Amino acid sequence: MGTTIERATVGIVGAGPAGLMLAHLLARAGIDTVAIDVRTRHEIETTHRAGILEQDSMRLLVDSGVSDRVLRDGHEHKGIELRFDGRNHRIDFHGLTGASTYLYPQTDVFIDLADARERDGGDVRFGVSGTAVTGIDGGAGQTPTVRFTDADGARVELRCDYVVGADGSHGTCRKLVPETLRRRFFREYPFAWFGVMVQAPPSAPELIYNRSERGFALISQRTEDLQRMYFQCSPGEDPDAWSDDRVLTELQARVAGGDGFELKTGPIAEKTVLPFRSFVQEPMRYGYLLLAGDAAHTVPPTGAKGLNLALADVRLLAEILERAVHGGDPAALDEYTDRALDRVWKAQHFSYWMTTMMHSLDPSAEVTPFDERRQVGELRTLVESESGRRFLAEGYTGWPGR
Ligand code: PHB
Repeated sequence: MGTTIERATVGIVGAGPAGLMLAHLLARAGIDTVAIDVRTRHEIETTHRAGILEQDSMRLLVDSGVSDRVLRDGHEHKGIELRFDGRNHRIDFHGLTGASTYLYPQTDVFIDLADARERDGGDVRFGVSGTAVTGIDGGAGQTPTVRFTDADGARVELRCDYVVGADGSHGTCRKLVPETLRRRFFREYPFAWFGVMVQAPPSAPELIYNRSERGFALISQRTEDLQRMYFQCSPGEDPDAWSDDRVLTELQARVAGGDGFELKTGPIAEKTVLPFRSFVQEPMRYGYLLLAGDAAHTVPPTGAKGLNLALADVRLLAEILERAVHGGDPAALDEYTDRALDRVWKAQHFSYWMTTMMHSLDPSAEVTPFDERRQVGELRTLVESESGRRFLAEGYTGWPGR
């Protein structure tokens, strides 16, 4: 079979939330795109990810016309509980900053975006293979090109003006930036999260971030009868070695306290161990290639910044590409790395800070008495100070754009 040559102003590698949100925003600006993904739509829809949207992420979905389902099916959360020493300390986001967060799983964000692309006649191709990107460095006579084989086995050569790499932390686009020009920053942590879906009603009205001497636990939610919970574990933990009973006993032991708090329990629908790392690759633009979301950076899940950061990247990228394509201002691309990294590094710090404040830092060590005491000292300082609570609230609900 031969190769079909096609054209798009922007070729988007990766059709997860970042890629599809960008395609949607560019379509509104009259810029055509083709988005491709190696995964099928079903695979993306059924991979559980985080569940918290910043207020600006919620507004982006609603105001740009993706969907207003988040207003109906999502839940506004005006704060969180920080729990340590066996009792809750509420951080009142709304009272401190005027902003809320929204419980709305990433899978729903993806479904809304994929539906919106279908509704608007967008060109999205799932289940492709053999993706190869060439011609992005701006050399004479080069055309940025994305080659792939579509789900029906047809070979396509997509010629573009720009290529966006939104293909996640395991994607290939970030590797296209030459080693001599890129810099990678990362931090590994000696722990991971054990994530479960519990068929039970919510145990509390808001999320509980819990620190205990047994390690961190997060009590999150999904629906009236399905809850998302996590607890800190070692990176090599085998989910199958944990019976439902053992998981629920461990979670309860971590949240136990003098206030008698008890988790609502039920059968466990799913168990996974989530990797945990901080990563940034700079710059986020090389020639005609622009990286967005996890393709450029990863944060640990404490603080739920990953999806929000990806959406902020593409909101900025849509503005910049519109200026480059329609405004006769190709130099706009030069702004992307610095403007995006401003938020990226704030979010890196925030996620690292939330993580190191609440996890057992070296669970393999017999005792880490200094850190144990120091963390509780930090948490007390934070919750007893309005400035401290506001610092957390501003970070959690998200910073204004630059
Ligand atoms: C989730 O509900 O999956 C979730 C919420 C908050 C986090 C991480 C994950 O910080």
